[in-house]
Amino acid sequence: MVTSQECDFSAIAGCYAASWRSSHGFFPAERVARFDAAAGAGILTELLAQGGRLWAAKVHGRCGGIVCLLGDEISKLYVHPEAQNLGIGSALLAHASAQVHTPRLHVLTINLGAQRLYFRHGFRFTGNRRPFYEGIMELEMIGPAHSGKVPLATISH
Ligand SMILES: CC(C)(COP(=O)(O)OP(=O)(O)OC[C@H]1O[C@@H](n2cnc3c(N)ncnc32)[C@H](O)[C@@H]1OP(=O)(O)O)[C@@H](O)C(=O)NCCC(=O)NCCS
Repeated sequence: MVTSQECDFSAIAGCYAASWRSSHGFFPAERVARFDAAAGAGILTELLAQGGRLWAAKVHGRCGGIVCLLGDEISKLYVHPEAQNLGIGSALLAHASAQVHTPRLHVLTINLGAQRLYFRHGFRFTGNRRPFYEGIMELEMIGPAHSGKVPLATISH
């Protein structure tokens, strides 16, 4: 049911924005509210302009989640709040990871749920970190290297 630009871009941006707002409650409320589909579309457009790749998971005909890859860096793993805990994030992560030899990503110190997910997929902390917002840091993680001989993950529900 998944992959790529089968969802229209505004649906992708709307899904990204809804998930972003649900996971950034530590920002001031006005900043969270400002992050609408148009703001999401701007960020994704910029990523694509830099050569990033974007996949979307279609769930019951709607965009249920997204993930980006720029070089070997996975970013923008966002599942719609109504579609979380159904395995979509795992499927998107596996799909993006399978495109590169050694995937990397950044996760917030406070995002323990996402960290658990990444650990289950074999990601480990590199020790590199950078400031994000008011004492919250972004931690770098690196995924398990693969030989390139494994088949690309298929995403199906
Ligand atoms: C993190 C996220 C991508 C996982 O996608 P998902 O489809 O819900 O995940 P799956 O169903 O494949 O796996 C479930 C696991 O995801 C994690 N998870 C689920 N909901 C989560 C949430 N709201 N926030 C963070 N992690 C979550 C947990 O590890 C969960 O397993 P566990 O709680 O049983 O240990 C998704 O919850 C999400 O979009 N969260 C908000 C945005 C975000 O935090 N993105 C990651 C940025 S690094």
